[in-house]
Amino acid sequence: MKFFIDTANLEHIAEAESLGILDGVTTNPSLMAKEKISGDAAVMAHYKKICEITDGDVSAEVISTDFEGMKREASELVKIADNIVVKIPMIRDGVKAISWCTANGIRTNCTLVFSAGQALLAAKAGATYVSPFIGRIDDIGWEGMQLISDIAELYAIQGFETEILAASIRNGKHIVEAAKAGADVVTCPLSSFEALFNHPLTDIGLAKFLADHKKAAGQG
Ligand code: E4P
Repeated sequence: MKFFIDTANLEHIAEAESLGILDGVTTNPSLMAKEKISGDAAVMAHYKKICEITDGDVSAEVISTDFEGMKREASELVKIADNIVVKIPMIRDGVKAISWCTANGIRTNCTLVFSAGQALLAAKAGATYVSPFIGRIDDIGWEGMQLISDIAELYAIQGFETEILAASIRNGKHIVEAAKAGADVVTCPLSSFEALFNHPLTDIGLAKFLADHKKAAGQG
């Protein structure tokens, strides 16, 4: 399974990259705004900086909601670097834009996916990645992880090659469950990856090993 980081924060991306476990980055307009990146030139320059930190796939989201606008943005975004993947929302014109990108050799990430039917459309259009939003489904009282299992089953039966990118991941448990449910990729903030490090028995065990080592050294 691939690990993507879901942020536009350059320090967090560099930190994840330094761990040697980073396969890519996802961003969205809210994450860019959080870093106070605004204006076309600044946004493009920021994507370039991200692509200089990692060779992994970097999802850059279009702002347009019409086919012509999405086509124009996709054509500009892919000029930034070879590892740019154009992120396109699951709307009617979005599906049309994904089909156009597929036909023109542009890789895509279909975002804002909340149902298996939407995932089916994204795969038919040739999306490279499909992004079901687990946490946001949980937020409204449904079982987000079930959607990952459903899409994994559907894609396996139908032989679709679109990769399932579990998004809107909120904690370490989500990462493990998404892996079990058949996600090809998880994307989450640095804090969720860091949660995977932690276990009290690791801390207790390490403290004991070091104490015993010190004791033995004292005796020797
Ligand atoms: C994925 O590509 C999205 O940017 C992201 O995972 C959304 O997560 P959120 O629901 O925590 O905003």
